[in-house]
Amino acid sequence: MTGSDPLLEMRDLAVTFPVDDGPDIQAVESVDLTLRQGEVHGLVGESGSGKSVTARAILRLLDDARVNADELTFDSTDLLAQSEKDMRSTRGAEIGMIFQDSLSALNPVMTVGEQIAEVVRHHTDVGESTGTLSELRRKYITGTDETSESWKRAVELLEIVGIPDASTRASEYPHQLSGGQRQRVMIAQALAGDPSVIIADEPTTALDVTVEADILAELRSLCDDFDVSVLLITHDLGVVAETCDRVTVMYSGSVMEQGLTDSIFTSPSHPYTEGLLQSIPEYSAQSNDGELRTTPGSAPDPRNRPDGCPFRDRCPIAFDACSKPLPTHSVTDDHIIRCHDFTNDRPGDASGKPQQAQEIEVSE
Ligand SMILES: Nc1ncnc2c1ncn2[C@@H]1O[C@H](COP(=O)(O)OP(=O)(O)OP(=O)(O)O)[C@@H](O)[C@H]1O
Ligand SMILES: [Mg+2]
Repeated sequence: MTGSDPLLEMRDLAVTFPVDDGPDIQAVESVDLTLRQGEVHGLVGESGSGKSVTARAILRLLDDARVNADELTFDSTDLLAQSEKDMRSTRGAEIGMIFQDSLSALNPVMTVGEQIAEVVRHHTDVGESTGTLSELRRKYITGTDETSESWKRAVELLEIVGIPDASTRASEYPHQLSGGQRQRVMIAQALAGDPSVIIADEPTTALDVTVEADILAELRSLCDDFDVSVLLITHDLGVVAETCDRVTVMYSGSVMEQGLTDSIFTSPSHPYTEGLLQSIPEYSAQSNDGELRTTPGSAPDPRNRPDGCPFRDRCPIAFDACSKPLPTHSVTDDHIIRCHDFTNDRPGDASGKPQQAQEIEVSE
């Protein structure tokens, strides 16, 4: 699924956290990203690379930061210019969210069905009162009427996301469910407002591998069924290979490489992406002694980044030009890199790219 209409667009996004007694923290710089209709777009990078800050900037959930962008639009609506009231309706009805930590994201004193039914009432047209008093009464006294449309839809959504015995589980509290089931509840809650986009920030990181695989497969198929596009944040390129149509690779607040997943996995063009690919066993080029090759070192302190490319202190091919501002080059029409060491004919074998990585079959 490629070449579809842009749904969420950001151009030159910059996020800065002001610091009283020191230099400001430039968490994200010059990020361009387009989430297209019907696509799952992976946002990948190691810890601190700016993935969550980018997601929160889209949803305007960063009260303590300065957010600037030449463009930040959802379906052509300028998100930075929206009133807080309109933004509240955008969150949920247009853009659903799934966070990593379901125990803190879900309300511990409300049943899971209640939490989903509330989103249904607020963001879809079921004709039930959403006034403060009605909601408080439901929340603390009566619960949602189990014959109401919002409750029936909540149970249906729990079934859709694969919770067995959904009508009983709907009346349970988050702590009564397993971690995997709670993540499924979060997916149901994100779908409850019938959004066009879901932003999922490490939705399966806390789960074990088999549960993770099930949930990602479920998320992927739900997106196809519900025609929802997903921005999937992960630090795991294996997850991207299994789930995403496109991928943006971030490092220390900047985009390093971006494009169709199969293009990036078969022709990784940025040394940072190559390092990431080599750090996952199934895609890695192993040296003769069987050791996995990874990029040594760690990301710079965002208050003290080197000029130019933020990766240059770790980069195996860094040279003088890397202290200059990052250029953007097109590898193909659907694949860009931001690296000074680029020529269009930079072939994988001659540049030391991992041959195994070029042979990977990326499942769609
Ligand atoms: N509220 C804040 N105040 C100051 N700096 C912040 C704040 N939130 C994030 N940052 C900084 O912004 C940078 C990007 O953080 P972010 O949380 O987006 O990373 P991430 O890619 O999501 O990492 P992880 O994989 O660990 O979740 C980091 O350097 C972080 O310390
Ligand atoms: Mg994060």
